[in-house]
Amino acid sequence: MLALLLAIACAHDASRDPAASAEAAPPVQTPPPAEHAHHPGGDDAVVHHSFHDAERWVQVFDDPGRAAWQKPAELVAALEIQPGSTVADIGAGTGYFNRYLAEAVGPEGHVVAIDIEPSMVEHMARRAVQEGTPQVEARLGRPDDPGLKPGEADLVLMVDTYHHIDGRVSYFAALRDRVAPGGRLVVVDFKPGDLPVGPPPGHRISQEQVVDELTRAGWTIGDSLDILPYQYVQVAWRDGLPGVLPQP
Ligand SMILES: C[S@@+](CC[C@H](N)C(=O)[O-])C[C@H]1O[C@@H](n2cnc3c(N)ncnc32)[C@H](O)[C@@H]1O
Repeated sequence: MLALLLAIACAHDASRDPAASAEAAPPVQTPPPAEHAHHPGGDDAVVHHSFHDAERWVQVFDDPGRAAWQKPAELVAALEIQPGSTVADIGAGTGYFNRYLAEAVGPEGHVVAIDIEPSMVEHMARRAVQEGTPQVEARLGRPDDPGLKPGEADLVLMVDTYHHIDGRVSYFAALRDRVAPGGRLVVVDFKPGDLPVGPPPGHRISQEQVVDELTRAGWTIGDSLDILPYQYVQVAWRDGLPGVLPQP
């Protein structure tokens, strides 16, 4: 059931594929309603799901079984986040990663947990109180603007959200300016192949496409961290690879 619900949450452009639309119709008594709206716009046109009811999505995103493959502690550890730094999680949803990020930045750091759904933002604000993480700020973003100030984030994390962004090349070009000098972006999304979780293969965005789009948006492609069984972890840098002088 969790696999089905994650497929619903992550399915990409289901309107082009009747089978995917059928899969996106949830059984009775399962969260959440599959409300789709097709957003035309060329190669990166996406279908958006309704994430308006955070309390129902908690059952999906915060399912205890997710940790076995999502490995949140291992993922955050691999990012080698500096204490005192600012991390933005764009498309943070119910705040699954917030406490791990809060621990990594420490009490002097800042986690900006951004979502475009007010109910997710309200949920994350309550969650920060419950989890005792005052360094977590839940912030409402817009589909075309994460709502970060210029240079605000040392690291932007985006988990299972890349395929929900419209007009990605311009979005990520603008996001570059919101990252501090020397900062980076980490995109985590589903690999190809037959997976027990995530959207159907035809509806995923490949790592190669992510690399291509981020390159066109001005990012320097960094390492791909091979630490998760079902998802790639692609790093991109704002100002070139660290330790490498820019070419004249
Ligand atoms: C599949 S969920 C992933 C949630 C979370 N990252 C996780 O791994 O549990 C995608 C989330 O991205 C949000 N979202 C969609 N488009 C967005 C955008 N343009 N900016 C910020 N958040 C967005 C949705 O509201 C939803 O909460």
